[in-house]
Amino acid sequence: MNEPIDARRRRLLQYSGLGLLTLSGFTGWLRAMESEAMPSLPKMAPNRASPGFKPDVEIELSCRPGSLSILPGAATRVQQYAAHLIKGPENTLTNLPASYLGPVMRLQKGQKIRIHLRNELDEPTITHWHGLHVPASMDGHPRYAVDQGETFVYEFEVLNRAGLYLYHPHPHGATASQVYHGLAGAILVNDEEERALDLPSGEYEIPIVIQDRSFDEHNQLRYLRGMHDRMLGFYGDRILVNGRPDFRIDVATRAYRLRFMNGSTARIYKLAWDDGTPVTVLGVDGGLLEKPVNKPYVMLAPGERLDVWADFSGRGVGSRLAMRSRSFSGVLPRMGGHGMGGAMMAENELPVGSDYPIFTAHVIRKVGASPALPTRLCKIARYQTEDAANPKQPVPIGISEGPMAMLLNGRAYAYDDVQPNERIPFDTLQLIEIFRPEGAGHSGDGERRDQQPAMAGMGMGRGMRGTGMMGGMRMGGATGMMMSMAHPIHMHGQAFQIISRTIHEAHTEAYASVRDGFIDHGWKDTVLVMPGERVRLIKPFRDYKGIFMVHCHNLEHEDAGMMRDFHIV
Ligand code: C2O
Ligand code: CU
Ligand code: CU
Repeated sequence: MNEPIDARRRRLLQYSGLGLLTLSGFTGWLRAMESEAMPSLPKMAPNRASPGFKPDVEIELSCRPGSLSILPGAATRVQQYAAHLIKGPENTLTNLPASYLGPVMRLQKGQKIRIHLRNELDEPTITHWHGLHVPASMDGHPRYAVDQGETFVYEFEVLNRAGLYLYHPHPHGATASQVYHGLAGAILVNDEEERALDLPSGEYEIPIVIQDRSFDEHNQLRYLRGMHDRMLGFYGDRILVNGRPDFRIDVATRAYRLRFMNGSTARIYKLAWDDGTPVTVLGVDGGLLEKPVNKPYVMLAPGERLDVWADFSGRGVGSRLAMRSRSFSGVLPRMGGHGMGGAMMAENELPVGSDYPIFTAHVIRKVGASPALPTRLCKIARYQTEDAANPKQPVPIGISEGPMAMLLNGRAYAYDDVQPNERIPFDTLQLIEIFRPEGAGHSGDGERRDQQPAMAGMGMGRGMRGTGMMGGMRMGGATGMMMSMAHPIHMHGQAFQIISRTIHEAHTEAYASVRDGFIDHGWKDTVLVMPGERVRLIKPFRDYKGIFMVHCHNLEHEDAGMMRDFHIV
């Protein structure tokens, strides 16, 4: 508190309710955030169409500024995807009504896809196919970002199984802002295995893309109001589904398939039906589960998806069923002894972890028959730890969440900065552990002793020595601040399987409010890692060599540098 701070910082800190944390470490971090510009790579020529590639589907996709009416009154300026089908089945592209979201792309496993991405924004962009397993050069790595007026041509084959995937921008430092302003869309992949189940389709299959936004008095999107929005993530005060406020679906008395995606930049949901009906889950990020599972509620973090069976057949015409986000705790920091919600979210009318509605289903029509819920969906070969090439030496993904640093493996994202433990042998199955290294931003929450063996076991000294980690440690210790929050960790490339979750006893109380909401037995590409939690997973690194990213899908964290490259060699 002795250190003088300039007026701007004081304003930010007051606004954020972090005034009590005006500590040397925090202002240092602030300074770093304000001044840090990443050295840019030499500009690459955007990829062109290759004559040898014969696409089954060819799409022109542009990113452009737009404007549409979301709330009553003035139209809202947004950024949006617009697409045009050059070649392929007619049902490949479907626009969501009155939405800024990009069209839903329906792709078939095995199809060859060519997409011409044209940047009509006045800033660089590049698009990533979240969850799709494509070559490194087609993955939308930020190094491929194109300038205004340029076109990047993607060519890849759909290798993924049926599932809901997504596309969104991935330019370094601006992913969150572009997604927030509207650039995102859903990709539905179909395959034979799924078709054989004859699940509800057509008008009975509905995408539910959940986002939170904040509007000013002129109906314009408000974003990043201060330092704490960058540090904790941006939380809007208005829930939109498929880009619409107060979303409702009109349904018949039969079963539906609802395809959920959390398209928010930071907000985590705890989804539950308001009348206590269990949520019947058919699938997660990487497609169908082996069999449907009933959950009292499901946690859905940014980037995660959920395939839900919703049966309205027992309900009367005129009845309603709402999906809500139910209350939970623990995902945002407790600071300076103040309970979270209070100190950090004072400015927000929709606190994270409070109880609020997402959308409502209105039963408006009676129909005679409804399909029955299949008892089995598909076969998933489960990995065991021993199947991995490194059962004793997991590849580390160390979360640092100190006041000076939102980092992975102790380093802020930088191009061409792959460390020895981020180099992955090609064509292997790897055990990966996500954890908080000792002292990385923590103090006084009892995690340190617990984390030590993992550090030792991984020879962390080698790859993680140096400024990042050690700096983070010292700062974490010096501030005496408890910075512990949930991070949805996402990996590009192939989907993975979650092997185990271990929660430190200091965090079990908050954990109890979320623990029944995880579905860990399917294929995943994003996993919510709670404070005090250590997650082990197994991921294949097959088919493609090259650079694939790992990052927090709290997109403000990603943009703050909580991202690394894995180099598959
Ligand atoms: Cu959906 Cu690299 O992100
Ligand atoms: Cu991704
Ligand atoms: Cu994060």
